[in-house]
Amino acid sequence: MGLLLLTLASALLSTYVPAGSRVEAQRLFTIRAVSLTVEPHPDGTRDPVVTRDTNVTLRCQAVVSSSGPEALVRKYTIYKDGSDVYTKTSSSSEDLLYPLPAARVSNSGKYKCEVNIEGKSMASESRKLTVTGLSTPLLHLNKGVVTEGEELTARCTAPGETGSIFFYFYDDTKEIQEERVNSNQVEVRLRFSSAGIHRIHCAYTVLITPDSFKSQESNTVVVSVKELSISPVLEVSPTDQVFEGDRLDLLCTLRSFVHNTEKIQLYLSQGTQLLSTGSTRVNHSMVARASGPTLSFECRLEMGPLFKSATKTISVTELFSVPTLRVSPAEVFQREAMTLTCRSESVASERLDRKELVYTLSPPENPLVAVGTGVFSGKALQFDFNYTCAAEAKGIKKFSQTLTVRPKVLVSVPKISVYGKAVLGQPIQILCHSDAGSLPINYTLLWGYDEVDVRSVRLPFDKAIFTVSITKPEELSKYMCEARNSKKEVPPSKRLNATVIEPLTHPTLTVIPKPDEVSEGDHLVLICGVRGTPPVTFKWYRVGTIEPLNFTTTDNKHKDYQIPRVSNDDSGTYYCEAYNSANGMVRSEQVTIQVRMALWKKAVIGGVGLLVASLLVLGVCVLYFRSKRGKREAAAELSVKPSIPKSDDSLAETLTHDSEASHAPTDAAPFYDGKEGRATNGTRDSVAPPPADLSNGSSYSAPASV
Ligand SMILES: *[C@@H]1O[C@H](CO)[C@@H](O)[C@H](O)[C@H]1NC(C)=O
Ligand SMILES: *[C@@H]1O[C@H](CO)[C@@H](O)[C@H](O)[C@H]1NC(C)=O
Ligand SMILES: *[C@@H]1O[C@H](CO)[C@@H](O)[C@H](O)[C@H]1NC(C)=O
Ligand SMILES: *[C@@H]1O[C@H](CO)[C@@H](O)[C@H](O)[C@H]1NC(C)=O
Ligand SMILES: *[C@@H]1O[C@H](CO)[C@@H](O)[C@H](O)[C@H]1NC(C)=O
Ligand SMILES: *[C@@H]1O[C@H](CO)[C@@H](O)[C@H](O)[C@H]1NC(C)=O
Repeated sequence: MGLLLLTLASALLSTYVPAGSRVEAQRLFTIRAVSLTVEPHPDGTRDPVVTRDTNVTLRCQAVVSSSGPEALVRKYTIYKDGSDVYTKTSSSSEDLLYPLPAARVSNSGKYKCEVNIEGKSMASESRKLTVTGLSTPLLHLNKGVVTEGEELTARCTAPGETGSIFFYFYDDTKEIQEERVNSNQVEVRLRFSSAGIHRIHCAYTVLITPDSFKSQESNTVVVSVKELSISPVLEVSPTDQVFEGDRLDLLCTLRSFVHNTEKIQLYLSQGTQLLSTGSTRVNHSMVARASGPTLSFECRLEMGPLFKSATKTISVTELFSVPTLRVSPAEVFQREAMTLTCRSESVASERLDRKELVYTLSPPENPLVAVGTGVFSGKALQFDFNYTCAAEAKGIKKFSQTLTVRPKVLVSVPKISVYGKAVLGQPIQILCHSDAGSLPINYTLLWGYDEVDVRSVRLPFDKAIFTVSITKPEELSKYMCEARNSKKEVPPSKRLNATVIEPLTHPTLTVIPKPDEVSEGDHLVLICGVRGTPPVTFKWYRVGTIEPLNFTTTDNKHKDYQIPRVSNDDSGTYYCEAYNSANGMVRSEQVTIQVRMALWKKAVIGGVGLLVASLLVLGVCVLYFRSKRGKREAAAELSVKPSIPKSDDSLAETLTHDSEASHAPTDAAPFYDGKEGRATNGTRDSVAPPPADLSNGSSYSAPASV
């Protein structure tokens, strides 16, 4: 039974044997614990702290249970900050000891131990070891006295330190160099660019990620730096009375040349522009230009890190000033004459005769020709053009600023019109407009010859609109406009010619014949009249009917509506309405018409018996006279005249004119001319005086019809 279990366990454990391992008798084992301890462990804390030079030992202990008598082969690995630093294979069960003799700061870190037996491994907990204390660095220089720019060698040592170390060198408190090495000493080359006493020391830092530990300062070593007996010299000729265009010679050299292995370089420059370079002598020749009040030159010597410079400043007098370009006349019109004048205002007369100055106009495709020194004339273009001129003498050329000439279009004679409609008694807008002309244009509204107002039109879509009010229609024609876009005058516009619309007033309805004298069969005429400006729309109404009886628009101030043969059905109350573009509707007073029975009917009813008797008597008489006289005579005696005027002409003759005294709308009062749809207020040959009280709804009367 026990043998069976053993065989089973053995079969399971065999899975831990790596493939290809030596074929040996399989051993049963288990790693029970792995621990790491630091010795000495002065304060007994988890993370020991030791001082520099302590002999530290890391002890790794593994507790393993196994089935055989001999110890199993164990592989120990020590990790510091995650990377393995030590590996040992042991076939004894003794602890592994990892010595850190005379510990240094660089030994600080997190340690861990791992044990591996036949592919099965276990790691310990990690322990953080801290080692304190760094050695004092030592500085050594190979020279105590150097000249400017000369190199010396400095060595800084960190005695006994290990690890990755940063070394720093200081001149007094200022850091002058740093170097990172993986050893405890470094050598650097130092140079000093200023003469005098320099106090040098060094220090170092040990890097233990993520921390760093800084040492104390080293001993201080004094270096004496002697000034180099070498300096740059700058010569400029001439130095006085330098005019633009004069030749300037510059020479940059060394004052004394001492034996020196270093390479020397000279740089000659003007402002930020490098003119020339060389090793011992730099020559430069140039034409002086008055780019500013003065010219500054520098001769600079460079020897390794050392540099010295010499400077000179020269003032250069302008030979002639930058030319100015002017245009005349001040306002240029398209295709009209213009002149450009180019001139340098000041000239150094001791060097230059004004006559030597040559002026040119650019661009070359400009439309002007030279007509004198610096004077260019011609016709202005039809578009904006940029001109520049140049003045030139003794190889010096100066350009004026660009002058943009914008030729104008003269404003055309303005037109004046009413904007919208002119209604008497309401504000009226007047528009002034010129078809051509460069903006801005000033429009002035005049009344008579008095200025009323000014409008400035600056943008293409702007309009010069003035608002006025008038009390009489004829006042409108006193307005006119002036337009101006330059100093040139342009004729004013014509006088404003526009119709003033007078609102309608005084509506009247005139009935012919008189409303109380209308009989059946009469020709009834309803005349609607107003005062105001045509065209007028008239509408006639009968009270009780919504729709108008008729309506019409006419260029007259009155209009008629006719009922050729009235009947009793036409009795009723009538009124009319009128409209024009100035205002809404005006309405006449109402007129009531009562159509009476025709006279001849009464006569017929009253005298029909008498008539029959008379006819009988007459018949007897006829028979009696026939026997005595001819038939023709008898027939002539029997004809009867019509009793009612039928023609329009005869009706017209019955119309009368109302007098001014009795009827207010004098000029609008209608003269009925008897023809359909026409009325005039002019004179007519056959006009009869009107009856009074027309406006109150009374009527003209027709002559007695019977
Ligand atoms: C450290 O060990 C060395 C010999 O390995 C010994 O000379 C030295 O005295 C020891 N230091 C201390 C502080 O025990
Ligand atoms: C350098 O200067 C010398 C005189 O000092 C002159 O003869 C020579 O032409 C100059 N060279 C240049 C490049 O200016
Ligand atoms: C003139 O010059 C101005 C700038 O100075 C530029 O904006 C403009 O377009 C130029 N006009 C013409 C017609 O070249
Ligand atoms: C137009 O009127 C403004 C003031 O309203 C004035 O400054 C400007 O000079 C006038 N322009 C012309 C061409 O008269
Ligand atoms: C006013 O304008 C009308 C046409 O609109 C024209 O018949 C008339 O002659 C003009 N009057 C004047 C004074 O120009
Ligand atoms: C108005 O009268 C005219 C004649 O005067 C006639 O031709 C027209 O048909 C009438 N219109 C209406 C709506 O009665």
